[in-house]
Amino acid sequence: GRVAVIGGGQNCEHEVSLASAAAVAGALETAGYTVVRLTIERDGSWRHGDVGCPIDLADAIQVLRTCAAAVPVLHGPRGEDGTLAGLCDLAGVPYVGSGVLAGALAMDKWATKLLAEDVGIATAPATLLTRSTAPGYRWTRPVVVKPVAAGSSQGVSLAGTPDDLEPALAAAFALDRRVLVEDVVVGREIDLAVLGRPDGTRTVAPALEIVADGLFDYDQKYGGDADFRVPAPLSDAERKALEDAAVAMFDALGCAGVARVDFFLTAGGPVLNEVNTMPGFTEQSQVPKMFAAAGVSYAELLDLLVRDVLG
Ligand code: DAL
Ligand code: MG
Repeated sequence: GRVAVIGGGQNCEHEVSLASAAAVAGALETAGYTVVRLTIERDGSWRHGDVGCPIDLADAIQVLRTCAAAVPVLHGPRGEDGTLAGLCDLAGVPYVGSGVLAGALAMDKWATKLLAEDVGIATAPATLLTRSTAPGYRWTRPVVVKPVAAGSSQGVSLAGTPDDLEPALAAAFALDRRVLVEDVVVGREIDLAVLGRPDGTRTVAPALEIVADGLFDYDQKYGGDADFRVPAPLSDAERKALEDAAVAMFDALGCAGVARVDFFLTAGGPVLNEVNTMPGFTEQSQVPKMFAAAGVSYAELLDLLVRDVLG
């Protein structure tokens, strides 16, 4: 069938999304689908086809409607946050991945935190700041400062001393009106990939450990020296706690398709970092590596995701 692969987006993860979308399109073509490429430029304009002809939104929706399914491969705000899911819903095109609410909740790190705590999953103690409340915040210990809604660690910094706070806040407020100041969590960085099938089954791929020095930041993520260990060495109890928490978050948010649930594994158990409803999807990204460790190839995973929405 004809499948639309949508990439790009209007945020700082644009380049990452283009890489994910190109890889997804290539694999789906290999799997026998006719792939229609749609790209959202940084300014919000749309392009169509392999050569990228400009197309207006109404025509892009018409193109979407010629497809049996869409694969939105956008990361970050105005893409992964439910907006693109909403567009597909209104256009009446089935799509791979989470719907409006799950995308919106997971993109908002504050909402995610409230929900996680409510279902009994620990998160880092945090304070929510706006530009009007930030001047009253007093640094008392090392904190991680991050925009509430962003991705790929953009705008995230560690304020290890009081002097670091102001530049850290400025970097975060450059990307969002709301900023989280979180306690530093000491633990191993472990990612879990949850696959939700239409019949309600949930599969968790082998856990992946990120071996990083300090913050797993943008340069480490995309500089080519990301070091992953998969399956992560875990005790049975650790693995069960992580898998249970990952599935609980997937369902609390109401995710669909595949989501990557990121934790710190501390001496006291898993602490949720965040949920990505459209995680990085190049072949070198975490989710494809986790499924590969379970014997599911990149093309097989994508074929499965598309077949599940074709019904
Ligand atoms: N936000 C990036 C793309 C990730 O989760 O992999
Ligand atoms: Mg993210």
